[in-house]
Amino acid sequence: MTEHVGRTERLVISRMSLEDAEGLHDALAGPEVGRYLGGPDVGDLDDVRRRIAHVLTGPDDPDQTWVNLTLREADGTVVGRLEATVNPGWAEVAWVLGTSWWGRGYGTEAAAWLSGYLEDVFGISELWGTVHPDNAASIALMRRLAMTEQVEPFARPLQSWDPGDLVFARREA
Ligand SMILES: CC(C)(COP(=O)(O)OP(=O)(O)OC[C@H]1O[C@@H](n2cnc3c(N)ncnc32)[C@H](O)[C@@H]1OP(=O)(O)O)[C@@H](O)C(=O)NCCC(=O)NCCS
Repeated sequence: MTEHVGRTERLVISRMSLEDAEGLHDALAGPEVGRYLGGPDVGDLDDVRRRIAHVLTGPDDPDQTWVNLTLREADGTVVGRLEATVNPGWAEVAWVLGTSWWGRGYGTEAAAWLSGYLEDVFGISELWGTVHPDNAASIALMRRLAMTEQVEPFARPLQSWDPGDLVFARREA
């Protein structure tokens, strides 16, 4: 069942569930979405179902929490997803929208909401994210959250880092 956890001006946010598979598949299929992600974000429908089932099982590490959320417009159309790996004291965040919804400020709304959610629910204000250096839109979102570019060696063990990625973080002053 869809469990809403919040909303922004134009987006409704719910915990990701198997019911979202078709919507996520429709929204996020296509090579352009995964251009800077190392490959397509979603495969076929069965693959999307498998991935949702996997994230719903949660991490092996008892200190970690996986946050996986589905983004919808008010009419219920799935437009993308948010994710965060929450560790004690810090979280690694990511956002993925379907191309049809790019450039309308949805990413900004979703990222700002995620930042507030992690603070409210987990007490986390230290955010980390990895990004391909050409991914200007995602870099802009991180800067909007006051995340700044980090240099190696990184202070946190990032899960999503691939060689060549930039790393941004918002850390305690
Ligand atoms: C990253 C992503 C979520 C941004 O969402 P969006 O709704 O298009 O973003 P917004 O419209 O809120 O714009 C955010 C910022 O990026 C800028 N921007 C948007 N599209 C851009 C583009 N194609 N090139 C350069 N800058 C761009 C906007 O001007 C805005 O900058 P500002 O904060 O300085 O005004 C979206 O592009 C996406 O899903 N990309 C594919 C998945 C991905 O790469 N995720 C990131 C993994 S780290």
